[in-house]
Amino acid sequence: MKSSGDCQRIKRVEGLAGTLPVPGDKSISHRAVLLGSISHGISRVRNFLRSQDCLSTMRCMKALGVEIIEPNGSTLEIGGVGLHGLKEPQDVLNVSNSGTTIRLLSGLLAGQEFHAVLTGDDSIRRRPMLRVVGPLREMGAKIFGREDGRFAPLSIMGSDLNPSSYTLPVASAQVKSALLLAGLYTTGETVVKEPAPTRDHTERMLRCMGKEVKSSDGNIAIRGGGELSPLDLEVPGDISSAAFFLVSGLVCPDSQVTIRGVGVNPTRTGIIDVLSEMGGNISVANERAEGGEPVADLQVESSELRGIDIHGGMIPRVIDELPVIAVAATQAKGKTVVRDAQELRVKETDRIRASVEELSKLGAKIEESDDGFSVEGPTELRGAKCHSHDDHRIAMALAVAGLVAEGETNITNADCVDVSFPNFFETLTNLAR
Ligand code: S3P
Repeated sequence: MKSSGDCQRIKRVEGLAGTLPVPGDKSISHRAVLLGSISHGISRVRNFLRSQDCLSTMRCMKALGVEIIEPNGSTLEIGGVGLHGLKEPQDVLNVSNSGTTIRLLSGLLAGQEFHAVLTGDDSIRRRPMLRVVGPLREMGAKIFGREDGRFAPLSIMGSDLNPSSYTLPVASAQVKSALLLAGLYTTGETVVKEPAPTRDHTERMLRCMGKEVKSSDGNIAIRGGGELSPLDLEVPGDISSAAFFLVSGLVCPDSQVTIRGVGVNPTRTGIIDVLSEMGGNISVANERAEGGEPVADLQVESSELRGIDIHGGMIPRVIDELPVIAVAATQAKGKTVVRDAQELRVKETDRIRASVEELSKLGAKIEESDDGFSVEGPTELRGAKCHSHDDHRIAMALAVAGLVAEGETNITNADCVDVSFPNFFETLTNLAR
């Protein structure tokens, strides 16, 4: 694996072997900074993910008057200011590429006593915001944005909020979390109903901070007010980052890879279920709990894969892993069909279009549908020049495909991996034989 400029060259490998940690979980790192900031006291967060997205959240919270110290590389000390201690920012808050930052912060800022403006990069300014602006307005929030709040920049004039009961039309942990954060600033009970379970890191973290969050039959309820205790947290490894090594270990010949300390929250382990159903040999060992989250070591070895159908309630559990599942499907015998995944079209890029376009360049038999894709395998992939679409997960999925493609695969604009996994390419190089 070599880089020149912002282009990565990947060559076919003979196999992968080794043991590695993966960087801290992105979703949990964002939440640790946001919730630590409004807690009462000093929060300590270890194994914080220092990636572009999480640094965006940290920058925004500092601009809102929160003191955050980094005593060493991945540890943070966050001086929580309490629910009502944030300060009006002096400038526009720029979230760069981070959807989690802009959506969760919208919920947090809606109930403050000041004005703030949120914007981000080209991708963020194309992503749908009405899904969070709409229900926040129902709570009384004063939020303005381009095309009547459909797109960022968003201007939020903090105001008194009313508790609400809202049914999410689309399963989204970001929207759910934004509403729960806004719910903290009401005097009453806010209930969010989700059509399928989504990642529940916000609920778990709030409970660790002493807040009661009820959850039953897809209804999540929180009462406003009170105080949040500070966090003392070790962020688990990100299963969405581990996914690239799980698939690499399965599809490369003669491979054996162990990934230590990975978060195995059941709302996130769809990737293990899907790859196991495809015939992948993955074992989950040494299960333990850290900061209200289950953690384990994952072992994977080369396996013969078969195609499967993926749809319905499984989709939110694998939403970020679908591009790399498409790569696994190119090496699986038979057809893999992904349905009900329209949400992929509104991620950092249209991930259905990007996966189909780029894997086709490598010779994959992959077809696009409105709400997913289908892949016929197994196929001998051939190295080609591919584009990341400036999307970290597309870049990393293409790198995995490059490991089994004949010849050389070039990925342009590959630096975007820094959004969730700085040093991804070095980590992959160290495993290659
Ligand atoms: C996230 C939720 C998901 C996921 C994103 C992170 C979160 O987005 O795709 O990478 O941390 O809450 P949606 O809420 O849009 O499904």
